[in-house]
Amino acid sequence: MQLTPEEQAILQGTQGAVLEKVMRSVVAYGETFDADRLVAISGSPHLVTSFGANTIRPYFDMLDELIEAGLHTVEPFTVDPRPTDFEHLNPGLVKRLSFGLIFGKQKTYEGQLLKLGLKDEQAFTCASYLPEVGNTPRRGEILAWSESSAVVFANAVLGARTNRNSAGIDLMCDILGKAPNFGLLTDAGRQATWKIEVVSKRLPNPHLLGSAIGIKVMEGVPYITGLETYLGQGLSQSTQDYLKDMGAAAASNGAVGLYHVEGITPEALDFKRDLLNPGYLTYRIDDDELERVLRSYPVLWKNPQAHPRSVFIGCPHLSRDQVKAWAARLEAALEVAGQSRTRVPVYLFTPPALAAELRKEASYQALLGHGIHLASICPLMHMNNPLCGRDPIVTNSNKLRTYTGARFFVDEDVENIAVTGRLPLDRGGIYA
Ligand code: F3S
Repeated sequence: MQLTPEEQAILQGTQGAVLEKVMRSVVAYGETFDADRLVAISGSPHLVTSFGANTIRPYFDMLDELIEAGLHTVEPFTVDPRPTDFEHLNPGLVKRLSFGLIFGKQKTYEGQLLKLGLKDEQAFTCASYLPEVGNTPRRGEILAWSESSAVVFANAVLGARTNRNSAGIDLMCDILGKAPNFGLLTDAGRQATWKIEVVSKRLPNPHLLGSAIGIKVMEGVPYITGLETYLGQGLSQSTQDYLKDMGAAAASNGAVGLYHVEGITPEALDFKRDLLNPGYLTYRIDDDELERVLRSYPVLWKNPQAHPRSVFIGCPHLSRDQVKAWAARLEAALEVAGQSRTRVPVYLFTPPALAAELRKEASYQALLGHGIHLASICPLMHMNNPLCGRDPIVTNSNKLRTYTGARFFVDEDVENIAVTGRLPLDRGGIYA
């Protein structure tokens, strides 16, 4: 890598041994991926590691070293959701005690994050780009983000530029204020390697479409055609919500860090099919293909017929419109069923700042009375332990399905399960 004299000096320890180690780590990372140089980061950071698990003590020791050296990120950062929130999602006494042991370093870790540049107590969400959170990168900004669902949203929908960095490397880059120039930071790395032709009869369920794309293209860059027929041109709020969920599924079911959508995302609007690399591959997604993908998911519940314990909606965290839409949808379904409460408790996950605002609304108490809760945790962190891992959880998130034993259903089925407590006889639809 070509380093500037100032970067060379840091590498030689002129600004202290700890910053030297930071620079050495970032340079080694860049060289691994054939980066040609470091480029200045222009946007605020978003970090992936939000949990104070006792198993990652060396990471906490490293943070202590950075803090003792007086280092912090150039700009204030946001971070992924907390693993627990007992006030709004009470898992019961035994699990509370166990969570206390598993995440025994949570308080200490959050103290470290504040010293390293955490924006504020409300900054724990994966949807940091939502207006209520305010870490919304602008087009062309260079970032060093790590949370895969946020990375793909920042790249594809906002037109910012970040690689899918690993935990730790994100922080190192953001302390230096520089990132290695490779992959999705470069024009060449943003060219599409796949053309995805969506030819379904209606708008596909976003989590299912993202899953199909991710499984097929893995770390490739898809250029998606056909969605503008249903979503219209440009980026309305509902289109952004759709793409948020589709991208999270593509990033977790595969390793997609960027996609383009014809007629919709900023680079596709500007460059159209010139974004397609010569020699691109083609994947056609029709209703049969969506159905095949849906039926390929294994059921990981110990008892596939178990009564669901909870319904988890909001991985990634829900936008304001999505929370409102789910609340209205569930309340309408309860009215039709002549019930006052859902038969399965429903948790809608949304950023802390948004949840705090919504809890002040008069309708919030009614929601709670109907069995619908707002929380701001990461359901994956909540489930990824021996106590909760086998719980019969229902979700509409394909990311949560991928990383846990939660069972995926499309929204219509999720609504029916929440209200009736019964699983569908057959897995339902494939549409949004
Ligand atoms: Fe967000 Fe956790 Fe899902 S970080 S995307 S809620 S796995």
